[in-house]
Amino acid sequence: MARDILKTLKDEHDQVREMFEQVKDTTDRAVKTRVELLDKIENALIPHAKWEEQVFYPAFKERADREGLQTHAEALAEHHAVENSVIPEVHMAEPGTPEFAGRCKVFGEFVDHHAKEEEKTMFKMAREMFSAEERAQMDEDYEAWKASPDAEKMLVAEKSKAASGGLAAQATRQ
Ligand SMILES: [Fe+2]
Ligand SMILES: [Fe+2]
Repeated sequence: MARDILKTLKDEHDQVREMFEQVKDTTDRAVKTRVELLDKIENALIPHAKWEEQVFYPAFKERADREGLQTHAEALAEHHAVENSVIPEVHMAEPGTPEFAGRCKVFGEFVDHHAKEEEKTMFKMAREMFSAEERAQMDEDYEAWKASPDAEKMLVAEKSKAASGGLAAQATRQ
């Protein structure tokens, strides 16, 4: 079967959904498991989101009509909300607490909602905008980027930003 960036992105959504399900099954005593799962979620989600923002969304925007532009704006705003508020709030909670469980649940709900919108709207539009060859090429480019030192550096920087609390921490400390 030919490679297709839209299939890869959808598969990654499903993998992350599965990880959130596993977090839901943990108790407040499962501190180590929660920390490991959050780490796994970030390792999967951050490169996915950054590549969408830097490559896929701009390519989509270039060919989008009025409706597509709105979809693009909506997706980007959701990324920003998760990056600047939802993830930092998870990090501000102690993993062995109901606060952590609650915030992680919200994180999972945001991601699921966003992923659904991409799958139902954006990817549907993208299937019309990009040829099979273009989608296969994007898929190869994405795989190569994920394995690059650039992607690794970005992940380290983004994770440390999330762990230090981002905008949400600043707001709470005021
Ligand atoms: Fe996204
Ligand atoms: Fe996505």
